[in-house]
Amino acid sequence: MKPRSLLLSFCAASILTTPITTQADETNPNIVHRQGIYKIAGGHMTSLKSILALGFEAPADVSFHAQGIMDAFSHMGNSFPPGSDKGQTRARKEIWEDMDTFKQRGKDAYAAAQALRDSAGDRSAELGAFKKMAKACKACHDDFRKKK
Ligand code: HEC
Repeated sequence: MKPRSLLLSFCAASILTTPITTQADETNPNIVHRQGIYKIAGGHMTSLKSILALGFEAPADVSFHAQGIMDAFSHMGNSFPPGSDKGQTRARKEIWEDMDTFKQRGKDAYAAAQALRDSAGDRSAELGAFKKMAKACKACHDDFRKKK
């Protein structure tokens, strides 16, 4: 085998044998699913920060990452059914006590991502929309996510 294909087969083997989540003990599908969706949003957020705040040269990717956050949120599905506050989760019980406010925070963050996508191409508008989106994420985390 050539070194390159050896490396590739090693990678493929470790993908198959490595647990897919780092919190390998949690098996509640709702908790695992929503954490996966939020990780996707977090990844887009990290790349947006690199482009908009640290100078990474990828101006055309701003709309991709904003759309990616919208897409991730629209695939949340039924990730917060009653009772899924128990386990390896940072979801606070307030979510189920005030589901209307929780859902509104979700809509606000989605709208903020949409505003960022729609401001693509104008750097100062993008920066303003990015900050608003970060605030919308934080607004939900402050009330509904446990501190570490
Ligand atoms: C409607 C409320 C809400 C909004 C809006 C929200 N989050 Fe969260 N987020 C949560 C909750 C609740 C958790 C904890 C989920 C759990 O542990 O079960 C979480 C967890 C996370 C995590 C940790 C995932 C993990 O387990 O590794 C990241 C990263 C994250 N959110 C990023 C974001 C980003 C970025 C945004 C905005 C683009 C955002 N969130 C918007 C409620 C929200």
